[in-house]
Amino acid sequence: MKKNIVLVGLMGAGKSSVGQKLSQDLMQAFIDTDSMIENQENKTIQEIFDIYGEAYFRELENNIIKEISKTNNKIISIGGGAFQNLDNILNLKQNGFIFYLKASPKNLFERIKNSNNRPLLNADNPLNILEKLLIQREPNYLKADFIINTELKTLNEITEEIIKVYNANS
Ligand code: S3P
Repeated sequence: MKKNIVLVGLMGAGKSSVGQKLSQDLMQAFIDTDSMIENQENKTIQEIFDIYGEAYFRELENNIIKEISKTNNKIISIGGGAFQNLDNILNLKQNGFIFYLKASPKNLFERIKNSNNRPLLNADNPLNILEKLLIQREPNYLKADFIINTELKTLNEITEEIIKVYNANS
């Protein structure tokens, strides 16, 4: 039985695209907590924030992480805020290797500037919000088992690097 690969990092870090590619290459199922929440609630993340608020969203996120942490052989992408909760970190570490997909705020902003499903960035200056969130959250992201610098790398290069590390440690 192989450990899960858990992808963490800020919005726009590429967790979903890297996760999908890893899932194809390793033939292991892909789980995306944001998609699970949207399916479960039959609403977009934006709608969930608008209707019920962030605290409700975090509760759903924590519950899902608790459940998926019990599984194996999965590729897991979690929302950018989920790694701020200590229980989530401990749960995910039990059965998984955590990879932090690291990128600069400018780089993250380039990837998400056309998205309209990121409630925390609905503001006049989303780049500024990303800069602040990175300062606030990076101490926890650095609790990952491995740090993958994604800047200037192709999707293939990133997934190859992760697979190499994963195989070497499995
Ligand atoms: C959030 C990140 C989003 C989503 C929600 C909150 C955050 O996921 O979970 O909008 O707090 O950083 P992505 O990191 O996949 O965009």
